[in-house]
Amino acid sequence: MADGTDQKSSNQMWGGRFASGPSAIMEEINASIGFDKKLYAQDIRGSMAHATMLASKGIISPDDKDKIIEGLNTILSEIEAGTFEFSRKLEDIHMNIEARLATLIGTAAGRLHTARSRNDQVALDFRLWVKEELQKTEGMLTALIAAFLDRAEENADTVMPGFTHLQTAQPVTFGHHCMAYVEMFGRDRARVRHAIEHLDESPIGAAALAGTGYPIDRHMTAKALGFREPTRNSIDTVSDRDFALEFLSIASICATHLSRLAEEIVIWSTPQFGFIRLSDAFSTGSSIMPQKKNPDAAELVRAKTGRINGSLVALLTVMKGLPLAYSKDMQEDKEQVFDAAESLELAIAAMTGMIRDLEVRKDRMRAAAGSGYSTATDLADWLVREAGLPFRDAHHVTGNAVALAEKKGCDLADLSLKELQAIHPDITKGVFDVLSVEASVASRTSFGGTAPSEVKKQIAWWRGRN
Ligand code: ARG
Repeated sequence: MADGTDQKSSNQMWGGRFASGPSAIMEEINASIGFDKKLYAQDIRGSMAHATMLASKGIISPDDKDKIIEGLNTILSEIEAGTFEFSRKLEDIHMNIEARLATLIGTAAGRLHTARSRNDQVALDFRLWVKEELQKTEGMLTALIAAFLDRAEENADTVMPGFTHLQTAQPVTFGHHCMAYVEMFGRDRARVRHAIEHLDESPIGAAALAGTGYPIDRHMTAKALGFREPTRNSIDTVSDRDFALEFLSIASICATHLSRLAEEIVIWSTPQFGFIRLSDAFSTGSSIMPQKKNPDAAELVRAKTGRINGSLVALLTVMKGLPLAYSKDMQEDKEQVFDAAESLELAIAAMTGMIRDLEVRKDRMRAAAGSGYSTATDLADWLVREAGLPFRDAHHVTGNAVALAEKKGCDLADLSLKELQAIHPDITKGVFDVLSVEASVASRTSFGGTAPSEVKKQIAWWRGRN
């Protein structure tokens, strides 16, 4: 037929009531094998645990169970060797594996699907996959945090300008700036750990949506598959994709952190800033301008965030109108998660490499730290502390000093005592002790502040927390 309808064969798994097969377009919109083949290992593991439980409860014979396990092992090696033939007619990974099992072991294969449905099967496979991905993400974040801790330690007293509005604000240390990212990625890692705990319930045995009348043992399968316990409501179990949404939310927040860092790397590596030099391993040249070294890896990390955020919005939108329980819409969950996971892994790995490799240009940071009247707040604080001025008056006096320095084209520390005293008579030569960037930084000893002594304490605290 013109639309490619295949009238010949109905589906061997569910085709009992169908006289003809699906149209080619139906097959194309329906099939998920193109992407859910990624779940083969989880699917096989789940089926083995299910078959073992069915046999232990006397629902299938030990002999059938043995055949099923042996057949599944064969299929696992076929897939891993690349010799397994995936068929789009068989829709998804679950039916591809079951059909192959039937070819390999005959009728015993038909007993595997007792007391389960593809609805709880896919929920199981996907949960197992997301759990493993979260565990991987946790390890990658730990490596990124470790890279930052090392850089922070080396640079606990490397002075740089701190910014607000990307305008020079007050001097800080590069170590302190690195530790800001340790806090961010530490929160991401805590979210990952929490999500692992959250999803750690086994869906298998919820069946289509209502549970089953067979005397199954869901605690047994949960344990065999490494879950804490089985889920508690069969309807929720087959309609829940919170674990995927949580993964994508966490990935989006983490990608947002990576993107902010990427933006800083792009800015810092410009000749104008020149705070860092990227290694050759994480930059590229220009095909026309020989002088250029481009921060492509950082730019791509920044861009991956768009994809990851897009995946979160896509899946939220898929889920928002779905009545309980399972609907086929939910098949659209996997590609979003797979794509976001791949992007996030790449982004974390690239960022870890860049942080480990980058050269810190201390001289450039130091020079910039002193420019822009970055110690003006220190002058105001000195006037409060030593001359007893109210802070608002001290702020005004300091403003006059900045205006004079600006007029003369020099730093605050370059103004003479005479010039300062003309602005306020109570200023003494002691003021020069606080006008240097090193003194400014060393004075910020409040908990979580930028003083090298404080930064070192925070590094030690994080080192004890991996
Ligand atoms: N391929 C389907 C998915 O990914 C598997 C579940 C199908 N269940 C069903 N009742 N059609 O969601």
